[in-house]
Amino acid sequence: MNASGAQPDGTRPGFTPALGYRALTPLYDTMIAALTRERAWRRHVVTALDLRAGERVLDVGCGTGSLLLALSAAAPTASLMGIDPDSDVLNRARAKAHAASADIAFAQGFLDQDFIAREGPFDAVVSSLVLHQTPIETKAGLLAGMRRALKDGGRFCLADYGLQSGLMRVLFRASVQALDGVHDTQPNADGVLPRLMREAGFTTVVEVKQVRTATGSICIWIARPG
Ligand SMILES: C[S@@+](CC[C@H](N)C(=O)[O-])C[C@H]1O[C@@H](n2cnc3c(N)ncnc32)[C@H](O)[C@@H]1O
Repeated sequence: MNASGAQPDGTRPGFTPALGYRALTPLYDTMIAALTRERAWRRHVVTALDLRAGERVLDVGCGTGSLLLALSAAAPTASLMGIDPDSDVLNRARAKAHAASADIAFAQGFLDQDFIAREGPFDAVVSSLVLHQTPIETKAGLLAGMRRALKDGGRFCLADYGLQSGLMRVLFRASVQALDGVHDTQPNADGVLPRLMREAGFTTVVEVKQVRTATGSICIWIARPG
């Protein structure tokens, strides 16, 4: 959550909206494209996942659906689903999928046991830029849920701000931490994600790429359960 978790109108939605505040959601796609070298890191995720025909894929915290659209373009026969608690971003995601004639299913909600029992298991689970905005307990809980949502032999791809050092740490402080606060983002910057993935039951955790951006370093990992 951003510093207080509260919106300017004083409400608490139970999750941090895509750009920290609901009112900024219309700017999300523009900001991510301008500030995160989005095409580069999303392309690395698509390559790392290496989807095959007919595979079932879940994007957790799918936001406005940009990653699902990139996956759909690369693997048109994959069965793609996104879940996100925020109806505003999902409306944008649905409109983008419709405009691209992409067959993607979207669900509003959290990755809980009911959802996993109803919709799982998946061949691959992916999540991008979600965990840096959540409290550490939620990072751990989401990773455990993503592990449970996978088939035996499935794979998980995570793209998020990881360990920040030197200039990347300075840029991360000035951008992501200015918007989202320090409380939830600092564990990412201190490099907590690989340990949390292992604790969630992923026995193999491989860093496949780091993309240096104007907002800090975005890391891409592929992880597999034992
Ligand atoms: C910064 S946006 C990233 C969106 C998208 N994955 C992308 O790559 O552009 C973070 C998203 O995570 C969602 N989110 C926040 N808390 C969540 C939670 N506990 N479980 C699932 N999604 C969550 C937000 O609604 C938001 O859409």
